[in-house]
Amino acid sequence: MLMARVVGPSGEVVGIERDQRSIDRARARMVEAGFRNVRFQRSDVSEVVDEKDFDAVVGRFILMFLPDPVAVLRSLSKLARPGGVLAFQEVSWAPFLALTAHLPLWSACLSVILQAFKGCGANSEMGPALYRIFQEAGLPAPSMQLEVPLGDDAEFTRMPHDLLLSLKPQIGRQRIALEPLGDFDTLPSRLQTEVVERKAFVTWMGVMGAWARKPNDSGHA
Ligand SMILES: C[S@@+](CC[C@H](N)C(=O)[O-])C[C@H]1O[C@@H](n2cnc3c(N)ncnc32)[C@H](O)[C@@H]1O
Repeated sequence: MLMARVVGPSGEVVGIERDQRSIDRARARMVEAGFRNVRFQRSDVSEVVDEKDFDAVVGRFILMFLPDPVAVLRSLSKLARPGGVLAFQEVSWAPFLALTAHLPLWSACLSVILQAFKGCGANSEMGPALYRIFQEAGLPAPSMQLEVPLGDDAEFTRMPHDLLLSLKPQIGRQRIALEPLGDFDTLPSRLQTEVVERKAFVTWMGVMGAWARKPNDSGHA
């Protein structure tokens, strides 16, 4: 939707996703929001075929799941025109873990989530890795930024509970113990109490952004 706004009604956005349910949901949201300049292509991101020279290739929370992100970024960069933008946002767990290490329940939840993520092959430090990956994919060293949301309200502190809920199948498959976290139904309120009693704030995962321009034939970005 952000890209659809940037390119405007005369532009075009192509969303790549391999999961049909996600495409269906995204399509419904596009219709609801009134965008007509977005189409979806069901494909593995490592096998995207499109003839056009796009002005930008943009992705969020995708390279972290791929076994060979350098190869995928190299092949995606072929879809951009010379001088076009490659921009990706990926996670960094390091600030997330460090800034909340003094909160035992919060940290115990993060440890389970991280174990489940890593057990699925996800890279929890793909954000910082972007700097190297861009260069190894033949692109210039990217401009980078790190955003770490902070908060203490109940909506904010329930995030580990919600993530654990969506990761439950992976947690079950990997036989990761949830018992140390106590009763699941009361987890949101216990997380909130831990934060409020210590007059603390918590963070969400750091989101690291990286962007660079594709060099033209003479090698200039
Ligand atoms: C964490 S979600 C991020 C979704 C979206 N980019 C966002 O920021 O909200 C990761 C998405 O990547 C999709 N995905 C994972 N591996 C993929 C692959 N190899 N090719 C295409 N899509 C993939 C998953 O189906 C999932 O919808």
